[in-house]
Amino acid sequence: MLEPRHIAIIMDGNGRWATKRGLARTAGHKAGVEALRIVVNEAGKCGLQWLTLFAFSSENWSRPDSEVTELLMLLKLFIRRDLGVLNKNNVRVRIIGDRIHLEPEIRALLDEAENLTRANTGLNLVIAFNYGSRDEITRAMQSLGADIAAGRLDPRSISADLISAHLDTSGMPDPDLIIRTSGEMRLSNFLLWQAAYAEFLFVECLWPEFGAKEFKDAIASYKMRSRRFGGIDGTSCSTPACEASANNDEFLPVEMVKAAGIK
Ligand code: FPP
Repeated sequence: MLEPRHIAIIMDGNGRWATKRGLARTAGHKAGVEALRIVVNEAGKCGLQWLTLFAFSSENWSRPDSEVTELLMLLKLFIRRDLGVLNKNNVRVRIIGDRIHLEPEIRALLDEAENLTRANTGLNLVIAFNYGSRDEITRAMQSLGADIAAGRLDPRSISADLISAHLDTSGMPDPDLIIRTSGEMRLSNFLLWQAAYAEFLFVECLWPEFGAKEFKDAIASYKMRSRRFGGIDGTSCSTPACEASANNDEFLPVEMVKAAGIK
């Protein structure tokens, strides 16, 4: 049976959860942080290697100011309150998304979380904040374009691996399973490149209702899947990220990056 190495979650339905209870949407986001804590804890207990959570998209800035402010505040609170426990539990925190346009206080907190937990060897907790796939791919293309313009890169040497290595997720295995709560069935600009061979699970419950049982059920459902990566026996994918997933063996990003000749 398959063991997932990387699970990514679109935590959807906080607003509906709150509205159903006659509460402000921001109460739903607060309840969402509680669900997040439960799932991170459960992922650590299961021995999962990678967990990516979509906490704030590059499109979420279009929400009312009060809601955006609340989400920024919840991120700050989460890092201030939970970083010590995460570190004690050997969790390594990583952030993906555009950091440059975030306020300096948040940038400093994100840097602190990554730096403090850098040497940890347990669960890799990836928080997608101010993240959007199209933005991520655009930034990667700008970086490759700059290398070409400066004569550092021959366009003929651009490969899928080189593109992967320029994304925010460089060095991470592709997600094996993407879960979205709240019954919506779309990716909403989340890990579009990385999801090429991901399995999907759409569950009806709203994110604040998603707990340890739902997480374990999701893993059980993944284990029953048959992955073929475009081939017929699950070993036919030619990219290192796919092969690593298919073989469920160690992913060697540094070697890949060196082999691709990236500085
Ligand atoms: C989608 O639900 C959820 C979000 C846009 C934010 C997810 C954020 C959290 C779970 C808490 C924040 C955590 C951190 C660490 C910052 P929605 O509001 O779109 O729900 P709806 O579709 O029911 O309106």
